[in-house]
Amino acid sequence: MKILAIESSCDETSIAVVEDGKKVLSNVTYTQIDIHKKYGGVVPEVASRHHIEKVTYVLEGALQQANITLDEIDAVAVTKTPGLVGSLMVGINTAKTIALAFNKPLIEVNHIHGHIYANYLTHEFKFPLIALVVSGGHTEIVLMKDHLEFEILGETLDDAVGEAYDKIARVVNVGYPGGPIIDKMASMGKPTYQLPHVKLGKDSYDFSFSGLKSAVINLHNKAQQKGEELNAFDLAASFQDAVVDVLVSKTKRAILEHNCKQVIVAGGVAANKGLRSEMQKMVESLDDVTLTFPPFEYCTDNAAMIGVAAYFQNKKNK
Ligand code: KG4
Ligand code: ZN
Repeated sequence: MKILAIESSCDETSIAVVEDGKKVLSNVTYTQIDIHKKYGGVVPEVASRHHIEKVTYVLEGALQQANITLDEIDAVAVTKTPGLVGSLMVGINTAKTIALAFNKPLIEVNHIHGHIYANYLTHEFKFPLIALVVSGGHTEIVLMKDHLEFEILGETLDDAVGEAYDKIARVVNVGYPGGPIIDKMASMGKPTYQLPHVKLGKDSYDFSFSGLKSAVINLHNKAQQKGEELNAFDLAASFQDAVVDVLVSKTKRAILEHNCKQVIVAGGVAANKGLRSEMQKMVESLDDVTLTFPPFEYCTDNAAMIGVAAYFQNKKNK
C-alpha cells in the first residue's frame, strides 16, 4: 500500500510516499528554520504563509522522487493535530483536495503518533513498550500495549523539553533552534553548575522543566549584571545533565513497572546525543530490553512518520 503523507503542523512543509508503513519511497521537506531564526522562535502567521507558498513544490518533489503519480497512490494521509492551526490547515486542505480529486481515502493522523511510529521505519515494535516522546511541543511517557493503543502515563506540566532548550538558547543568544546547539555545547563542557533535577514525587511520571529553565536563565542574567563570566559549555552540560537524568530515570521506572521489553524514543529531542548515550547505558543495566531511536533525519518533523502511522490506522479500520 502506497500512502502519500503530508505534514505541516509547525515550520516544516514535508511530503512523503511510504510503502506498507516501512519503505520510504520519498520524503521531501522544506524547512523554514532560517526564516524564523531572526525571531528566535516560530511565528505562526509567517509559518502558514510559507507553507502555502511551498506546498505544491514539495508535493511535486515528493512525487518525482518516488517516481509515482497521484493516480497510483492508494491513500492520502495528513497531520490533523496538534500544531499551529494556520499551518495545519494548509496540509489538511492539500490532502483533502487530492483525496477528492483522485478519489482516494483520507487518513487523518495525530502528529505525536507519527513521531512514535518514526521508530517503525527501522525497528519492529514489541508490545508492551514504553515510548518517551520528547519534542518542541510535547514531553510524555506513553505505554503501548498494542499498535495504536496509547496510554499516557505522564506528561509535562509546563514547558516541553525542546521548548526549554529553545528558550534558554534564545536568552543566552546562541541561536535557533536551541536543541542541537546546546547539545553540542554540552558535549564540550562538564556539569559543574548546581541545577534542579525536578522529579515531582517518587511515583510521578509527570515532568516540569520551567523551574530548571528559569534557574539557567537566572544564573545567566545574574552573571551579566555582575559582569562575571559564566562557562557557557559547563552551563549547557549542567542543564542537559538535569534534563537527561529526569527523562531517563522516569523512563526506567515505567519500563520496570509495566514489564516492557522495548523502549522507543520519539520527537526532535530524540536526536540529542546526551539522551541517546544515557538511555543506552540505562537499558544495558536492564535485562533484555531493546532501545530504539528513529534515524536522525526522522527525529524532527517529517511526513514519512505520518505515512507509517497512517498505514497502521488504515489496517486497523479494515
Ligand atoms: O519534533 P520536533 O521537530 O517538533 C515538534 O513537534 O515540536 O522537535 C523540535 C524540537 C526543537 O525544540 C529542537 O530544539 C529540538 O527538537 N531538538 C533538540 C535536538 N535536535 C532538535 N533538542 C535537544 N537536542 C538535540 N540534538
Ligand atoms: Zn513534531
